[in-house]
Amino acid sequence: MRVFQCAVMGSGGVGKSAITVRFMNGSYLEWYDPTNRKQLSVDDQPCLLEILDTAGIDQYLTLNDMFIRESEGFILVFSLCQRDSFDEIIRTREAIQRIKSPEMNQDVPIPLVIVGNKSDLLDEREIDSTEGEKLALNWNCTYYETSARTASNIVPVFEDIVRQLRRN
Ligand code: GTP
Ligand code: MG
Repeated sequence: MRVFQCAVMGSGGVGKSAITVRFMNGSYLEWYDPTNRKQLSVDDQPCLLEILDTAGIDQYLTLNDMFIRESEGFILVFSLCQRDSFDEIIRTREAIQRIKSPEMNQDVPIPLVIVGNKSDLLDEREIDSTEGEKLALNWNCTYYETSARTASNIVPVFEDIVRQLRRN
């Protein structure tokens, strides 16, 4: 069975852990082992996905660089209710490009999914769907709006990264 490593990155408090726990356990905000792998079947093919839930400590660049080096795919999370966090994923992607590009075929895009989380907080939105979609088009990747709280659209994010990793 193939094993894939992906990192969940983004600013502090955007819901990286909530999304990861929701996917791993099907629960909201419960403890889980961040080194755990999850077996899942995508398009009738099983695989093991190792999910590295990073802490939103972007100022510690050396640590982030290490996470990026260790990962093959990236789930970049921002909060739909926080403009700053949207800007932050642009910087994170620059770091990924800088670290990954030298070792990769330039024609193959780095497996990456953009996630706008907290879609349940309708009244607090600062980023609309078209902005996220535009960025994804620009980066040649995919975009999902999720809610870890209601579990909306969580599984499709991880299935998508697996499909991209398989192509890689
Ligand atoms: P760091 O580990 O500090 O970088 O944060 P994180 O990105 O892991 O965020 P975390 O999952 O800890 O969530 C931060 C806060 O946002 C928590 O209080 C959650 O309850 C809340 N939260 C996370 N996801 C959602 C969501 O989809 N909807 C709502 N309404 N709140 C959410
Ligand atoms: Mg966290």
